[in-house]
Amino acid sequence: MATILAIESSCDETSAAICKDGKILSNIIATQAVHQKYGGVVPELASRAHQQNIIPVVEDAISSAKIRKKDIDAVAFTRGPGLLGSLLVGTSFSKAFALANNIPLVEVNHMQAHILAHFIDDPKPDFPFLCLTVSGGHTQIVLVRDYFDMEIVGQTTDDAAGEAFDKTAKILDLPYPGGPLIDKYAKEGNPEAFQFPEPQIPGLDFSFSGLKTSILYFIRDRQKEDPNFLQNNIADICASVQHRIITILLGKLKRAAREYGIKDVSIAGGVSANSGLRKSLEEAAVKYGWRVFIPAFQYCTDNAGMIAIAGYHKFLKKDFVGQDIAPLARMSF
Ligand code: KG4
Ligand code: ZN
Repeated sequence: MATILAIESSCDETSAAICKDGKILSNIIATQAVHQKYGGVVPELASRAHQQNIIPVVEDAISSAKIRKKDIDAVAFTRGPGLLGSLLVGTSFSKAFALANNIPLVEVNHMQAHILAHFIDDPKPDFPFLCLTVSGGHTQIVLVRDYFDMEIVGQTTDDAAGEAFDKTAKILDLPYPGGPLIDKYAKEGNPEAFQFPEPQIPGLDFSFSGLKTSILYFIRDRQKEDPNFLQNNIADICASVQHRIITILLGKLKRAAREYGIKDVSIAGGVSANSGLRKSLEEAAVKYGWRVFIPAFQYCTDNAGMIAIAGYHKFLKKDFVGQDIAPLARMSF
């Protein structure tokens, strides 16, 4: 029997979760609205908001799970990658909680946790499987051989897919974070209305910076001809941009599935919440005979539930860390 308290504070979401024997009992997420007016995450403000949110979020997670503090057997926390000041809040809290309650500490890699979110609900993938991890800071194709035996076989050479959504939204004058809004407008638009270029990057790697530049020039030129172009075509623009991002992502995923001979294919990370990507993946599954795995919506964007499941599997292996542990802004597998 194991009850884990998990803490996530790598970016702008303060989250705490309780997991009992691999089942998530609570997953509380406090989103920091303070960044919206700046059009992106302001690291100093994120750290401060984590400091304000962390105790109420943890108390909420414990009471929602209907457990007592003394039932907790270990505390798992995101060590990295992420914003250092944000990670420090979660790490320091977790160390203090573990010390005060005399329980072990478990460190978790945020990107591995996004992938391990597939082990929260049924059906769960079989090893080995491929995971397209798409977030605000990362775009990776990962070959997952076991819970903690993962290899990045392709990744972005510049911007992440989430950044491509967020930067496009900025060009389109939409507020941060733009991904969910582009998704919303895209539902009403024609994905074939405008053609944006597909980058020619060898192998399984990605590039999104050229797409951002082509959107910038496209909007600038069309606005010159018609000052209302943007507002009159927002749905078609969003649908076309989203379509291009999806074809880039799925093109490489198809190639990886073929090269590695793997038919268990999954997506994870904030961009996996995108309805167009989820739908296109389901269609690819039918076409290529894949078994696809898509996390429940609440486990796609940053959350402590995924940290809890990763922490639980480390707890089973007694993979603990000491009080001298420090967060890492960059952290590989
Ligand atoms: O995994 P995540 O919550 O945080 C990081 O670890 O980066 O991912 C955040 C990213 C943002 O870029 C956000 O715009 C994007 O995920 N995102 C979406 C959607 N929901 C979140 N992008 C496209 N469509 C969505 N529905
Ligand atoms: Zn994330």
